[in-house]
Amino acid sequence: MEGVNRIIREQLHSNVPFISQIAEYLINAGGKRIRPALVLLMARAFGYQGTQHQMLAAMIEFIHTATLLHDDVVDEADLRRGKSSANALFGNAASVLVGDFLYTRAFQMIVAVNDMRILPVLSDATNLIAEGEVMQLVNVRNPAIDEKRYMEVIYAKTARLFEVSAVLGALIAHASEKEIEAAAAYGRSLGIAFQLVDDLLDYAGETDVLGKTVGNDLREGKMTLPLIFLMSHCDESIRKTIRECIENHDEASLPFILEAVKASDALDYTARKAQDAANDAAQALSCLRDSQYKETLIKLSTFSAERNY
Ligand code: IPE
Ligand code: IPE
Ligand code: MG
Ligand code: MG
Repeated sequence: MEGVNRIIREQLHSNVPFISQIAEYLINAGGKRIRPALVLLMARAFGYQGTQHQMLAAMIEFIHTATLLHDDVVDEADLRRGKSSANALFGNAASVLVGDFLYTRAFQMIVAVNDMRILPVLSDATNLIAEGEVMQLVNVRNPAIDEKRYMEVIYAKTARLFEVSAVLGALIAHASEKEIEAAAAYGRSLGIAFQLVDDLLDYAGETDVLGKTVGNDLREGKMTLPLIFLMSHCDESIRKTIRECIENHDEASLPFILEAVKASDALDYTARKAQDAANDAAQALSCLRDSQYKETLIKLSTFSAERNY
């Protein structure tokens, strides 16, 4: 990870100092660096001995960071990684444009790795992430969104990048087709668990621990799993309140709905789904030979389901 951080710092360079300033602001705030860790662990778990996996890991973190810059503009978020979000500090225009810089820098880094198997995997993934964010945008303030459509969105916007991180690690290690599919299945389930918990923490987490404002999803009219579950398990009067709040941006009923979510089984249900996905992830690794890397990947799946930040 030190090698990855060094590459990140080098690759943030731009002749336009304002770009480096904003990108460094967000990247220096830290973040969990789970996706790059996943690339490194998967590569080593399949016996890779070189150092090019570090470039791929840094590249994945750039794509992730670009999506965060754009996502915070779209979600009007003012806190990220415990600090003012880039859009709050530098404005929407700067965030969008620096997000584009990071996205395109990521593709320059792929070219530098010069492995023709990587480009199709990544171009499909980044395209799907964009589709996922737009699908979510279209779904906003629609109380009819059900679990199936929700799962589609979280696979596209989040889980696919986890999947690709795992696949890149396996690819660079020249893993077999079957092993690459195992890595993909691991990353996919890990990413699903990860986003389920993100959506859970938006109801149940603490802003200080999480480093981002809780309660945003409901406020923005986003139907995530806790609310979808409550809607299909509550009585008609509560359902009507939720429907009106989601459709009409009714701030007054937010505290009531929040309490209703917490009093119901919605958060337990979401946590159980995350745990199931994390178990699936660990299960997918059964074809890998035992190693410290495999062990850490299993720990990472546990962390994704149990984390509070
Ligand atoms: C946040 O991802 C965006 C989601 C997909 C939920 P992370 O929780 O990995 O963000 P950082 O990088 O640790 O800040
Ligand atoms: C993030 O979804 C997905 C992407 C960044 C593509 P969220 O909107 O739930 O992520 P947070 O909660 O802002 O980190
Ligand atoms: Mg967001
Ligand atoms: Mg969120």
